[in-house]
Formats: sequence, C-alpha cells, structure tokens
Amino acid sequence: MTLSYRHHILCLAEHPLPSLAEQRDTPFYAYSLPSVQARARAFPRALVAFALKANRYPPLLRALVAEGLGADVVSLGEWRLAQAAGFPPERVVVNGNAKSDALLQEAIAAGVQSINLDAAEEVPRVVAAARAVGKTAALAIRINPGLDVHTHPHLQVAAQGSHFGVPPEQVLAVAQAIAEAPELRLVGIHLHPGSQLLAAADWEAVVAAAREWVTRLRGAGFPVQQVNFGGGLGITYTDAPDPQPEALAEQIHRGLSGLAPLRLAFEPGRWLVARAGVLVVRVVQVKHAWGQWFVAVDGGMNALLRPALYRARHRIWPVRRREPTRPATVVGPNCESTDVLARDVPLPADLAAGDLLAVLDTGAYGASMANAYNARPLPGEMLVGESLPPADF
Ligand code: LLP
Repeated sequence: MTLSYRHHILCLAEHPLPSLAEQRDTPFYAYSLPSVQARARAFPRALVAFALKANRYPPLLRALVAEGLGADVVSLGEWRLAQAAGFPPERVVVNGNAKSDALLQEAIAAGVQSINLDAAEEVPRVVAAARAVGKTAALAIRINPGLDVHTHPHLQVAAQGSHFGVPPEQVLAVAQAIAEAPELRLVGIHLHPGSQLLAAADWEAVVAAAREWVTRLRGAGFPVQQVNFGGGLGITYTDAPDPQPEALAEQIHRGLSGLAPLRLAFEPGRWLVARAGVLVVRVVQVKHAWGQWFVAVDGGMNALLRPALYRARHRIWPVRRREPTRPATVVGPNCESTDVLARDVPLPADLAAGDLLAVLDTGAYGASMANAYNARPLPGEMLVGESLPPADF
C-alpha cells in the first residue's frame, strides 16, 4: 500500500508525511519508490519506454533505469535528462509533432531505438539530420487511425482532425519515401491512442487498427517488425482497481495472432507513476463564505494543473486524520477562479492554518506540469523508499 494511516498520521511508503514536510517547503511532491518498482515490474516483456512527460524527477528516472525500462522523450530537454539518468539509447524512442533539428541530430547520433515520425513533411528533416551526423535513422510511422476513444477531449490525440500523427491516406506514401531514402530504415508503426483510457473496448479498436496497418504495409512490401502502442493505460483515481497491463498484453496477442512475429513496445507514463505520488500542501487560511467552507492551501494550479485544465478529480486526504469532518472546497493561492483543487472534500472540522493535506495520485503530470504562475517557486520533489533515507539519494 503506497499510502496508509498509522496512528491517524498519513504515511507514504511507511514515512510519516509530517516528517517529510520537515525536509521540504510545501507544496512538494513525494514519490514512493516501492510503488514505482512494483508497477515497472507489472509490464510484460516488451520495450517499455517510460514517457518522461509524466515525471522527469532524476532519482525516479534512475529507479526506472535500474528496472530495465526505456524512455519516451519529446524534447531536447527530456532527451538530455534521459541520457543523464542512464537510459540506454537503444531503449529510447523519440516522439513529438515538432522535434527540433538538435533533438533529431543528437538522437540519431546516439542510435535511439526509433524516431516516431509524425508527418510526411518530417521525412526530409530526418534525412537532413541523419546526413548531418553521418548515421542512419530508425523510424516508426506514427499513424493517426482516426479513433474516437473514451477520454477527456483534451487527451484525445488519435481522433480525426487531430494534429498528431500521419493520417491514413498518407501512410503508404510515407513508407515509400522512407524506403527510398538510404539514410532511413523503417522499423515499424506507432499508434498512441490517447491518454487515460480505462475501457478495454477502446484498446480493441487500437489493436484492430494495428492489425490492419501491419497487414497493409507488409502486403505492400514494407518491413514492419514492431508495433508501438504508445501510452494511454489509465488509472481510476479512486479506490477502484486500475486496468492491468497483462490484460492489455493478452488482448494485443489475441488481436495480432496469426501475423508473423512482431516486437511490441509501450510508452506508459501515468500508469507507472501516478499512484506513487502525493502532493503535500499546507493550509494557509480557512474561510466561511456563501454557505461554504473554503480551505486555501499554498499550492494550487501552479503546483498541480490537472484540476484546472481538465477538471480532473484528485482525492485530498488530511495528513492528520480526525473526526468529525465536514465538506470543504480546497482552493489554491492563485488569482484565478479556476484555481480550485477539489470540491466537497470531507476534511476535519477543526482544520486550521498550518495543517497539511495530501493530494493523491499526483505522481504523473503533477510536478512535470507545474509552473511559476504568480511568481511562486516550483514545488520540490523527493523519492522515498523503505531502506533509503527519505530524500536526495
Ligand atoms: N506516448 C505519447 C506519444 C504520448 O503523447 C503520451 C502522452 C504518452 C506516450 C504517455 O501517455 P500516458 O501513458 O501517460 O497516458 N497532461 C495530461 C496527459 C497528457 C498525455 C499526453 N501524451 C494529464 O495530466 O492527464
């Protein structure tokens, strides 16, 4: 269990949050190493390239390197962090709809596993980058199959009209252009379906699209050895169990059965690390107004953008649990009406300035999307493990 109450005090991986709060200013993120390790080990045999956009905290990245994972990067900054953490280039994939020339050149020079091509127009740019560094580039075509998956509209990236990926009618021409360029080598296809998917039915459509494209490309004489299913495996953000990667792998094996062997790759972000993290905030002021009870804390949309951006619902628990409780609206400190972390949160009736609260399931897209709005410092981070000192190892 990542989080649990011991003598009414909330602990992360056995560490009481108040003692962690002595080591960092609030707001700060704390991540449980055992939780990250358990999730890394739950993925089946495949290239599992962690999406650094979900979390780029160097100690957490090093823990994933130690588990044998690869990395999915979308910027020069992420690429350099991945290198510094020790991800072997042959387990790194490069994504993005606007990869810089510098990123392309450094990644090709290092020999990354694949560059996931986002557009026909990217082909000459990759050729130029490969020439500049005197190496060939391994490519996967990121196909946009035009799927309508069930998730927040902001998290749909494989739908018709999306600006990501190569649309179906251009895929064969792109494969031909790759085949004709001596600097390029086609290794497979990439089909990131969108993020925060919970329904097996959505994956059914993705797997069917993969089957269709492997068959069509191979039928046209192009070598497709790998299917990269991107990220997307969601979490429930509640007590309900999360979908499991083994079930997804089984579904994929069923859906691709009969095709000549294919290597599988995944780029999970959220599923690996969201559950491992808590955002610890401190109550600044408690206010009664309009018949409501507003609890203002020191980290809001600057520290955790998800509620403001997607109306995402994260559970908020008191660090010191006590009865009775009453429903509160937990708000951040920024001058924006959307700076509300959560409504109807049951919190101790005697909650007061100085009390700590924990915002749950924030290990993914929490710190990585934090910002300096209202000139607030970025939240600190720490990774905690059982046999480790709680920070900075
Ligand atoms: N691969 C590609 C090409 C992606 O675009 C993404 C996420 C992933 C992998 C990782 O997806 P995941 O396994 O984490 O679902 N900020 C949003 C999520 C945006 C996801 C963008 N792309 C949030 O806070 O929910």
